[in-house]
Amino acid sequence: MNNKILILPGDGIGPEVTSSAMEILRFVKDLYSLDLDIEIHDVGGAAYDKTGYPLPDKTLEIARKSDAILFGAVGGPEWEDLDWDKRPEQALLGLRKELGLFANLRPAFLFNELSSASPIKEEIINDLDILIVRELTGGIYFGEPRGIDTSSNPPHAFNTMIYDEKEIERIGRVAFESAQKRNKKLCSVEKANVLEVSKFWREIITNLSKDYPDVELTHQLADNTAMQLVLDPNQFDVIVSSNLFGDILSDIAATLTGSIGMLPSASLNTSSQGMYEPCHGSAPDIAGKNLANPLAMILSLAMAFRYSLENHQVANIIEESVKEFISRGFRTKDLTEDTSFLETGEVASELIPIIKEKSDV
Ligand code: IPM
Ligand code: MG
Repeated sequence: MNNKILILPGDGIGPEVTSSAMEILRFVKDLYSLDLDIEIHDVGGAAYDKTGYPLPDKTLEIARKSDAILFGAVGGPEWEDLDWDKRPEQALLGLRKELGLFANLRPAFLFNELSSASPIKEEIINDLDILIVRELTGGIYFGEPRGIDTSSNPPHAFNTMIYDEKEIERIGRVAFESAQKRNKKLCSVEKANVLEVSKFWREIITNLSKDYPDVELTHQLADNTAMQLVLDPNQFDVIVSSNLFGDILSDIAATLTGSIGMLPSASLNTSSQGMYEPCHGSAPDIAGKNLANPLAMILSLAMAFRYSLENHQVANIIEESVKEFISRGFRTKDLTEDTSFLETGEVASELIPIIKEKSDV
């Protein structure tokens, strides 16, 4: 079956890391004779500079027709003073909303060889393997009414945190099903001691748990989870949370590993169309210097093979090869104190022979 892949390099280190991922993509495409159409388009600040819009119609139109989108990163100091609707982040929010990418999967795992990079003690962090399932198209990010009212006295601003039953159920199902495929533990996180929307969330998730008797469900308050993630992260298997709390908790979880340059993510809709994005963002300070770690983007490509292209074999091979790459001692700058390390552009050429070894073709 023919699959369409859209590459959106974006800003900062986005173009460097997507270019490494594309080397891997082209290699596995040839190796397994995959029927893939690959297109590259502009997004974020780069798109704004060319067209005046961070998410040009053309990009959105092609995104709608793609099975998987590899999204580099958007944003940077040069676009910070633009009007709200022109800022690069709007491209990300627009793609999520327009494509209905409600389920954001953010794994946080540690390769034990890299535990010295973690700010957390080794004995606490070793073997870390958490999946955060973040609701991505609702909640306070998109709730109406919203606005800034400067004509009132005193001037004020407001947002709305709102979830309906269906939205909670569908993200809940993704989370329970993910837990079934892992260690069968799900922790639902909200602020049910303060917010009505959280109390409602807890009720819906509790009801839903009847359909998943094999999954052990617990509930935690978001502030406590922030603390627990640092004190005892290995208590968690899958965490499910709303858009805002999931945003915050996934940054904490990513930081635990000490190597945010390793962490991928997937954002899926109901038809398994997905956008795949590294967790690290555009990192303007190192952009264009060939210093970025492209492994998060390459692991995001693996997630695209798993969730949208339904090719588990290729997904597994990429993931196993990255593991092997780390255990053979290859390091990018973010992963070592040494003065010698691989540049961004060198990673794919070291990884490709490992992929070849692991494949049976
Ligand atoms: C993320 C980012 C985005 C978000 C920003 C860039 C809009 O923090 O993907 O976690 O808040 O969702
Ligand atoms: Mg975030």
